[in-house]
Amino acid sequence: MSKATQSSAPASTYDPGSLPIGDKLRAIAIDGPVASGKGTIGRRLAQSLGFAYLDTGSLYRGLGAIAMEQGLDLKNENAISDLAARCSAQAFQRDDLRKEAVGEAASVVAAMPQARQALVAFQRRFAEAPPEGCRGVVLDGRDIGTVILPDAALKLFVTANEEARAMRRFQELQNRGDSATYARVLSDLKDRDERDRTRATAPLKPAEDAILLDTSEMDADQAFKRAFDLASQTFGA
Ligand code: DC
Repeated sequence: MSKATQSSAPASTYDPGSLPIGDKLRAIAIDGPVASGKGTIGRRLAQSLGFAYLDTGSLYRGLGAIAMEQGLDLKNENAISDLAARCSAQAFQRDDLRKEAVGEAASVVAAMPQARQALVAFQRRFAEAPPEGCRGVVLDGRDIGTVILPDAALKLFVTANEEARAMRRFQELQNRGDSATYARVLSDLKDRDERDRTRATAPLKPAEDAILLDTSEMDADQAFKRAFDLASQTFGA
């Protein structure tokens, strides 16, 4: 698994006895649409709390990238599911995961139930047995609170209006030197949200017990502070 997708806390904080919290898993489930800020919040929470972090979008991005590289038809569900079942976590360690085309491919393959199934077990194992040294886990994605970790002690649904999210993604691409127009980024983002929200299997939606965090009017520090306050209330950090 890529170092970019996972991180773990120093060994000194390891306390296996602290993993469950009541009948809940010592975990933070973060879901939300494209460029809502969930990844930044997740990473920073994990670092501050000594939790391990898994960006589950990178699994779908990795699958999409490998499928494109192998010239597979992204609509061929059998071929993609087959590939997902054969891929080891190592295979997802790539430098091109943040490219727009890869994000698009990820959203297409993520709509396939069998391909998703192949990735579910890895995500649950990560949460139930985090790397040594970690006091809990943070996973972010689209179905973490609803499907992967329904027993997470804290669930956040991070969102922001489309224009704010498209502007963030546009600036990120510009900073990386990728060519893009704001109009194109906005239209791609709407397409991807639509696909992620309306698919039959594990669609993007808040869990019933998720706390909504709208970051439209917040900068990254403000959004993190709100999430950290909620985590402190839950875990007594
Ligand atoms: O979070 P991201 O933009 O890196 O995710 C890329 C795509 O992967 C997203 O459009 C939908 C899919 N995805 C998913 O279906 N379930 C997840 N838990 C994470 C990502």
